[in-house]
Amino acid sequence: MSRPTAQQEAELYAAAKAAMQLAHAPYSNFLVGAALLSATGRIYAGCNIENASYGATICAERNAISGAVMAADKELIAVLVITATEYPTFPCGMCRQVLAEFNPAMLVISTTVDGGRAEQSLSTLLPSNFSQHDLEAASALKR
Ligand code: THU
Repeated sequence: MSRPTAQQEAELYAAAKAAMQLAHAPYSNFLVGAALLSATGRIYAGCNIENASYGATICAERNAISGAVMAADKELIAVLVITATEYPTFPCGMCRQVLAEFNPAMLVISTTVDGGRAEQSLSTLLPSNFSQHDLEAASALKR
């Protein structure tokens, strides 16, 4: 697994923290920032965007994915998430699945504003992810 250098991780942290400060989270007050590192060395950040309908909320991680896809820069190496929590929190299940679309083995670094840090491989957080491979297996089925 290729991983960010110390300097890249510092840049990811700064980008995620700046994104977190833009979070639109008036309902939960749970502010999240995320920053993705691509194989080209570029960084894509996102914050959570809540909605009065609640269900239309988008998480910071999936918001960051939108930026990478729109830049046609989809080979993703790592994601760093930041929250203002007592301990580092890992991405929700839906975001794990969306991250796995681009690299099921990417490094997930979870941090807090107070210096907390933990990391896991996405393959540990979401083993046996559903993928394009499963769709191809279904299309081969004879009915
Ligand atoms: N949230 C994220 O942005 N990422 C996660 O992985 C977990 C949850 C957001 C969604 C919602 O705005 C708030 O945190 C509370 O769930």
